[in-house]
Amino acid sequence: MISNLTQMRLPPPRQKGSMSLEETIAKRRSVRRFTSKPISQLQLSQILWAAQGISDTSGKYRTVPSAGATYPLELFVVCGRNAIEGIADGIYHYDIDSHSLTLHHKGDIRLELARAALDQEFIYEAPVDIVICAIYERTTLGYGNRGERYVHIEVGHAGQNVYLQAEALGLATVAIGAFNDEHVRKVLRLDKQYKPLYIMPVGVGLP
Ligand SMILES: Cc1cc2nc3c(=O)[nH]c(=O)nc-3n(C[C@H](O)[C@H](O)[C@H](O)COP(=O)(O)O)c2cc1C
Repeated sequence: MISNLTQMRLPPPRQKGSMSLEETIAKRRSVRRFTSKPISQLQLSQILWAAQGISDTSGKYRTVPSAGATYPLELFVVCGRNAIEGIADGIYHYDIDSHSLTLHHKGDIRLELARAALDQEFIYEAPVDIVICAIYERTTLGYGNRGERYVHIEVGHAGQNVYLQAEALGLATVAIGAFNDEHVRKVLRLDKQYKPLYIMPVGVGLP
């Protein structure tokens, strides 16, 4: 059944898996060919948690380090038609504190997103694209211009976690940095404070 809810709680992420960290690191590779097979809500939950989820009981700290725990990153999920079991196509915001998705815009915008990224066709071939954006002011407020460097370092940490979690789940991804920032922001219907830094298609990879 496809959910029409504007907010939906994701299944809780697991903290045990069958692949060792060493094996996951050794196997990680960028993949640019995907099947159209949907991913499960649990797989999506796991990937979002790895990228930016809460990982301590106080709710203060996350899976990825952040300069001064200022947490400038915001994640959006671009979901194609029949892409995630039980979730309609659209753009969703990942609400970190409640580990849930909030509908931001209805409809499949993967093709528009690919066009904003030099027509890298795997963006619309993969069932899902995770777009990692930053609100720089959260970090530059305390750290000035150096905060910009910290935000860029942090998105790398988040991206690596997406890579490793995808690998451990038997899924595939690639970090995409080549796109038109303004165009991507408009395709995602985001206001100017959001700066897109990475697009990461996620799905079942093809060799
Ligand atoms: C900052 C950054 C930006 C990247 N942008 C793109 C991109 O726009 N398109 C793409 O296909 N791959 C992109 N990649 C992936 C690299 O091409 C890939 O990591 C590299 O070829 C090494 O392969 P591996 O990841 O399988 O080890 C990017 C990687 C990084 C770190």
